[in-house]
Amino acid sequence: MAHYRALGRLPRQRHTQLRDDDGHLFREELMGEEGFSSDSSLLYRRGVPSAIVDSQVWELPDQSRTPNHPLKPRHLKLHDLETGSCPVEGRRLVLGNNDVRIAYVVTGTDPSPLYRNAIGDECVFVEAGSGTVETVFGVVPYRAGDYVVVPRATDHRWVPAEPSRLYAIEANSHIHPPKRYLSRFGQLLEHAPYCERDLHGPQETHQVEGTDVEVLVKHRTSAGVVGTRFTYATHPFDVVGWDGCLYPYTFNIEDYMPITGKVHQPPPVHQVFEGWNFVICNFLPRKVDYHDLAIPVPYYHSNVDSDEVMFYVGGDYEARKGSGIGIGSISLHPGGHAHGPQPSAIEASLGVQYFEESAVMVDTFAPLELGEGGRAVEDPAYAWTWAGRGPDSAGDDGGPAVYSNS
Ligand SMILES: [Fe+2]
Repeated sequence: MAHYRALGRLPRQRHTQLRDDDGHLFREELMGEEGFSSDSSLLYRRGVPSAIVDSQVWELPDQSRTPNHPLKPRHLKLHDLETGSCPVEGRRLVLGNNDVRIAYVVTGTDPSPLYRNAIGDECVFVEAGSGTVETVFGVVPYRAGDYVVVPRATDHRWVPAEPSRLYAIEANSHIHPPKRYLSRFGQLLEHAPYCERDLHGPQETHQVEGTDVEVLVKHRTSAGVVGTRFTYATHPFDVVGWDGCLYPYTFNIEDYMPITGKVHQPPPVHQVFEGWNFVICNFLPRKVDYHDLAIPVPYYHSNVDSDEVMFYVGGDYEARKGSGIGIGSISLHPGGHAHGPQPSAIEASLGVQYFEESAVMVDTFAPLELGEGGRAVEDPAYAWTWAGRGPDSAGDDGGPAVYSNS
């Protein structure tokens, strides 16, 4: 995120002394990615950021994964998933691989514990609800439709103002705008569907007094994803100023400017972010193809190199009648198997001027496996909906996945 920001108190030059009115020297901390070779910020703290007084195991919720074997398209009904109410500890793993994990939680209004993901950046899509995310960089408000991007190792906590549905995309890498949207110096280009004005970072620093403060840290060992409960000597929200290009921010899907065409445009035009070995796209209300003979719904496609996860978050789903897909659904269309609309949906789409649907898509380049949360809410009949019959039925008219963008 090569977009410089500065908040609070800073020395005029980096790596020089900054003192409070009593002469107390603030501690400078560089928080940087890829060693010292990528984006970073300099933070000025009252306390010592490395001062821990205890370290205990934090038992994570079930992180087990089940391979998609035998291979099937999957339909997972997230709105049927019962989760814990904590925005962090209540998350249930829905899908995952060694590059990215997707978890889901329906929160209450209690704040989460202080939390840090030491594995990678988080991009949390807010399906519903509002509140704030308090971070070491300052407070970021969130609302429905926001992606909340929290850089790896950022101390933060979620403070819902109302119950919130959070779709957490947890990377093992960094999440950033697609490189092709960026100038060689990192500015968002004219053909990008959003620009820096649409990215909202903290507006002021956020400081809290405290001693012996717990922070939950998600990290990795050879055994996979694990957790540790650190106790810090003083509260980590002690930053009086920071500057740099590394900080949390939000982007709302309302501010995304869809790219449309004379004929059907492929999913990359809907891309919003990318991480290592996966991309995030959003399909949003837009005018559709304007060629006289255009077919607005997609052609069948076999994404030989990727698994495709659609999360349906808004719009008119009449066109999907029979497939079982509705708002709150996830479809997983795995690599190595074609998918697309049913023939009747193709005919029905001819002449359509506008699509109302909203969906968030994650495409991975390694196969996804089912988390325990995904396994708990699977619709087992989905795989047969294109054929209208499967091994356990003589046939019905349940048809096909017809989402216009899938
Ligand atoms: Fe697709």
